[in-house]
Amino acid sequence: MLEHMGDWKRTDYCGVLRAGDIGRSVVLMGWVQSNRDHGGVIFIDLRDREGIIQIVFNPQTNREIHEKASALRDEWVIAVTGRITSRSPETVNPNLPTGEIEVVADGLRILNTSKPLPFLIENDVRVDELLRLKHRYLDLRRPNMRDNIVTRHKAVSATRNYLNRKGFIEVETPYLTRSTPEGARDFLVPSRLNPGKFYALPQSPQLLKQTLMISGLDRYYQVVRCFRDEDLRADRQPEFTQIDLEMSYADENDIMSVVEGILKAIFEEAKGVDIPVPFKRMKHEEAMLRYGSDKPDTRFGLELDEMTETFRDSGFQVFSGAVKKGGIVKALKLPGKAGELSRKEIDDLGETAKSLGAKGLAWIRVSGDEWQSPIVKFMSDKEKDDLQKKLGLADGDIVFFAADTAYIVNMVLSHLRLELGERLGMIDQGRFDFLWVEDFPLLDYDHTEKRYVAMHHPFTSPKEEDLHLLDTEKGKVRSRAYDVVLNGVEIGGGSIRIFQKDIQEKLFHTIGLTAEQAREKFGFLLEALEFGAPPHGGIALGLDRIVMLIAGASSIRDVIAFPKTQKGLCPLTEAPSEVEQSQLLELGLKLDVKEKDK
Ligand code: AMO
Ligand code: AMP
Repeated sequence: MLEHMGDWKRTDYCGVLRAGDIGRSVVLMGWVQSNRDHGGVIFIDLRDREGIIQIVFNPQTNREIHEKASALRDEWVIAVTGRITSRSPETVNPNLPTGEIEVVADGLRILNTSKPLPFLIENDVRVDELLRLKHRYLDLRRPNMRDNIVTRHKAVSATRNYLNRKGFIEVETPYLTRSTPEGARDFLVPSRLNPGKFYALPQSPQLLKQTLMISGLDRYYQVVRCFRDEDLRADRQPEFTQIDLEMSYADENDIMSVVEGILKAIFEEAKGVDIPVPFKRMKHEEAMLRYGSDKPDTRFGLELDEMTETFRDSGFQVFSGAVKKGGIVKALKLPGKAGELSRKEIDDLGETAKSLGAKGLAWIRVSGDEWQSPIVKFMSDKEKDDLQKKLGLADGDIVFFAADTAYIVNMVLSHLRLELGERLGMIDQGRFDFLWVEDFPLLDYDHTEKRYVAMHHPFTSPKEEDLHLLDTEKGKVRSRAYDVVLNGVEIGGGSIRIFQKDIQEKLFHTIGLTAEQAREKFGFLLEALEFGAPPHGGIALGLDRIVMLIAGASSIRDVIAFPKTQKGLCPLTEAPSEVEQSQLLELGLKLDVKEKDK
């Protein structure tokens, strides 16, 4: 039954034909989306990459091909010849871009058949993601998935065009390389030619792009895969793509304006939206104070209020105790929203807070003049006055409090802020709100390792005016790092780098590396810094996250052609897989995996 394309050459894509094409003879190829028999006349929706068009097989016009068409089933691959005609007014389909026309078929070749499908090729399929990923070729035939992949292509293409115009040179860096620290575990690749040694897949091209500045490339970029073995989430994959760039003789403003240009070009090309530049800027300290987060969603209010001083000597031990231990107290006020939260919902929020590590979640609900609350009875009049002054409580308000270390308080309240903002419909979903967060601390104290670690990465330059604090008040040193945030998602991060060898060595020392360890890990960088390294800086944008936000997808898996599951598996190829004993032998490797770990 199957035929060849023979001498038929496709003339058009189905989805792009319009009323202006009426009268033309066309040759179309694609998949059968549906097959309907209306009183002897057969209607096929034919689908290709660009969309769908209706094909009509009329027994009166051509009995033989009408007969053939009656055998067609979903997802068979066919070639059709015919003439474009207009539909009668009552049969026009306004929901379809090709809805004014149809193709009256005069030829049909069946190129391939298909087994019955595990799920329908439609936008709203409610099927398990595992099944979608196992049959990713079918999943990607769905129009919204195809659109996501096309959006991604447009974003990359706009990026390349923009950076090429701005004098950037695209350079590829190796995937088989040495470890570059970005805070995750490395994926390792054993070397057959050097038994017992391993390459690391790059967590980013950080060191090599800096090396390219020392080589004089001046402006580098790369659309590059990065590999990080970390716990996966909706916006994290073990391999993901960065728009990575580095510039010589640049300061923060130079990098920011290039990034704003890239994002403007991407949004114009991939979304048809003109985003205003320059973006707002906020210091890290202010972001933490007002939003409890270094990547605040600034599409809505609900800011946090600092209440530590009010409760420093409070009789309510839960609060004053936290402050005495060096912690803080903060409040999250929902103006006029008390009526929208039931007592059970308030208790559930408390449980959420506890699951995030809080010890509790205190609250006050204002009803008329009355404050309903489990904690007001512990407060002095002065504390109540202070509260009223700072929060301006009015009828219908509800306010939540957390007291703990700054880390826990900010983490819990910023989480509740997002959850409540979403639940109470306070977020304008159509809005794109960009924000630069700047002046990050250089170092972060790691309580488990009992030492300072680099907050960004150890090649980030301290601010010149804070250099003297490196020996005395390490936690206070600010860095020249910046993140770009869109709707509460960190879509990029970078910094101006250290380019003097002595400062780089000092920083390694500060984060607890001995001179020997520093040489062993980053010897090539330290050496290169001695041969006329120019001042430089850069950034990397998370392409997957940007496309996810443009596409309105809920996970970056939906904008990656072949993503991994939460457990790092590819259901299509079934990677990772076991390997032959002989392959292990060749690499000098012996497995020691317990049955229970498999
Ligand atoms: P950073 O580690 O901040 O910086 O990464 C840059 C951006 O990459 C995205 N990203 C991810 N996207 C998906 N899955 C992941 N697992 C993942 N991890 C990071 C984020 C992030 O903002 N070398 C530095 C850049 C520089 O300093 O120039 C770096 O890699 O959107
Ligand atoms: P308790 O005295 O433990 O019954 O707590 C009284 C109220 O304070 C309850 O609503 C608790 O949820 C809340 N609470 C307890 N610990 C904290 C804390 N660390 N931060 C904020 N609220 C708390």
